[in-house]
Formats: sequence, structure tokens, C-alpha cells
Amino acid sequence: IIRNKGVKHLCETGIANVPNRYIFPAPQRNNEEDQVVSNLSGLNLKLPIIDFAELQGPNRLQVLDSLAKACENYGFFQVINHGISNDTIGNMIDVSRRFFQQPMEERSKFMTTDVRAPVRYGTSFNQSTDSIFCWRDFLKLVCHSMEDSLPHWPTSPSDFRDSICEYAKENKFLFLKIMEAITESLGIVLKTTRNDNDDIINDFVTKEFENGSHVMVINCYPSCPQPKLTLGMPPHSDYGFLTVLLQDEVEGLQIQHEGQWITVEPIPNSFVVNVGDHLEIFSNGRYKSVLHRAIVNSKKSRTSVASLHSMPFINMVRPSPELINEKNPRRYLDTDFATFLDFLSSSELKEKNFLDSRK
Ligand code: SIN
Ligand code: FE2
Repeated sequence: IIRNKGVKHLCETGIANVPNRYIFPAPQRNNEEDQVVSNLSGLNLKLPIIDFAELQGPNRLQVLDSLAKACENYGFFQVINHGISNDTIGNMIDVSRRFFQQPMEERSKFMTTDVRAPVRYGTSFNQSTDSIFCWRDFLKLVCHSMEDSLPHWPTSPSDFRDSICEYAKENKFLFLKIMEAITESLGIVLKTTRNDNDDIINDFVTKEFENGSHVMVINCYPSCPQPKLTLGMPPHSDYGFLTVLLQDEVEGLQIQHEGQWITVEPIPNSFVVNVGDHLEIFSNGRYKSVLHRAIVNSKKSRTSVASLHSMPFINMVRPSPELINEKNPRRYLDTDFATFLDFLSSSELKEKNFLDSRK
């Protein structure tokens, strides 16, 4: 039985102070002075931008080079001109907000502590194991396979399934195209053929990822009366190959870069893409899964949608044989999802502790 109804519900009851269980130790909080210092030292707060249209054109090699640098130096980049329409994106954000605006009784139908459930509504990160709660509610949707998962999804709001299905399909295709560029940027030799939809995707990416896992997490960070005391999400790395993140116009995502927390400026209708633990392993450490967190503010509620993509659930993730040689010995153990999920349900979200366990 779940007693904690989440932070949105807490705010709806009207609170003036952040309750104790949401208060992070001072060194872990968002410290604004640090931001000012980083501005003064001229640190560039803009993430590398990858123009997806350009990637598909005659300048592909140059863009691949920028992509490699972004994955090595930031673990993050933003994608513009990605081909997903503003309508699809707008509907995704809009239906997410409307889902969370529903009465608690509608949302709580999907509350479960089962981390493997096809739909899961929850708060914080893992409310069974978190010692400090973060200022976040979420709805997690398993998107692969859609046939198995869709019948479990919410039917309210009435356009929920249609809007999210459409978005999920396009997001997956974008992921495949980015993965194709990433493998190419790693120097892995690719063979390309046309698939049934006449979309050209190389054989390696099709084979490894077409039936790969795809999990969507819709995050709701309500405005917070004392935002400096808590976090929307504590520092963590993502487990998969890539996370394709959509954020609304409210800033809140911070990434760790050269020892500082830097805020990612939202670019309307763009995606923030980051390297996950599985890609760090696959690239044998060349591309880094970087720590990031979410902060909250006192004025606006924030919505973000993280699409986590990886290999099929049963596949092993291992360093690519093409990237291991005498100069570059293997740096990670093989891993699989079962190991990850056991880890997840038994431990707290903390830094890169899953990846560290695979070294
Ligand atoms: C995440 O790290 O998965 C979400 C971060 C965000 O809400 O920007
Ligand atoms: Fe994340």
C-alpha cells in the first residue's frame, strides 16, 4: 500500500514550507552563487547543438565530428531540425500537463511500487528506498512493445494514448537515426540497407535497437515554496544508450561540466540528448554518461518527458569489440537489464553507482 501521494498532491493541500523529508543536506542543494561564479569565469552555458538536418546533408562528416566531441566532452547535446513536428511535441507536453492536472483519484490508479509495471505513477525516484524525497512526481510508460503495453495505459485524458503513441513512434525513429550517427562517429563500420518503411537505417542499428527497450518518463515538478532546500531530481546518470529529453520552457535541468552544475537553457521544440551508461560501456569509455539533476523554482511548475532507449531487455551490453585493442583494453563488465533492475529496486538513486559496479 502506498501512503505517500506525491508532491503535487502535497502542494494541492497548500503548504508554506518544504517538509523535512524533502530537505537535502546543504552541500547537495542548488547553490546559486556557484552559477554566478561560473558566469563570471566565462563558462559557456550553452550545450553543443547538433543540427539534425545538416547531419543528413553534405556536411555529415563535420557534424559527426561535433557529435563525437559533444559525447566526449559533455555527454550531452541538443538536437534541432530533428523532423518531429511542433504539433506532435506541443500535444505531448499538453497532454502530460492535463494528465497531472486530473484529480488525485484518477492519477493514483497507476500507483505501484513494481518497477517493472507497464505503467507506473510515483513520486520522488523510488519511494520504497529513497531516504530523502525529491520534488517530483512521474508517470512512467513502457513503450516497447507497444502491443503489450498500450492496453495498460491511461485512457484519460481521452487523447492521452493517441498523442503519446504518435510521439513515442517519432521519438524512437529519431533515436535510431542518432544511434546510427553515433556508431559512425565511433568509427564502427556500417552496412546500410532499406527497411520495410523505406527508411534507410544501417543494419547494425536496426538489428540491435529496432526491438530495443523504450521507456518514457513524464516528469512533473510542481513549483516549490523553498526551492533552495530540495531538488527535483538528485544527481544521477541514465542507464540506457541515449535519453531523448523534451523539456517545456521552464528551466531546471542541470548537468555537471568541469566540476560545476550548469543549467541547460531550453530551446523551444528541440531535444536534449544524453549518453547513458550502456553507451559509455559500448564505447568502452570514450563517450561519457554524465551526471545531471533537476532543480525546482518557486514560480512555475515544470514538465519534462524523458525517453530512455536501449537494447532489447534480454541482450547483453558490452564494449564494442571494434573499440577494444592493445592500447584500449576492455574497461567494463558485460551487463544486462535484469542486473540493472535488481540494482534499481534495492538501492537509492545515487551518482553513477550502477555504472561503477560494472567497472
Ligand atoms: C531526467 O534526468 O531524467 C530528467 C531531467 C529533467 O527533468 O530535465
Ligand atoms: Fe536522467
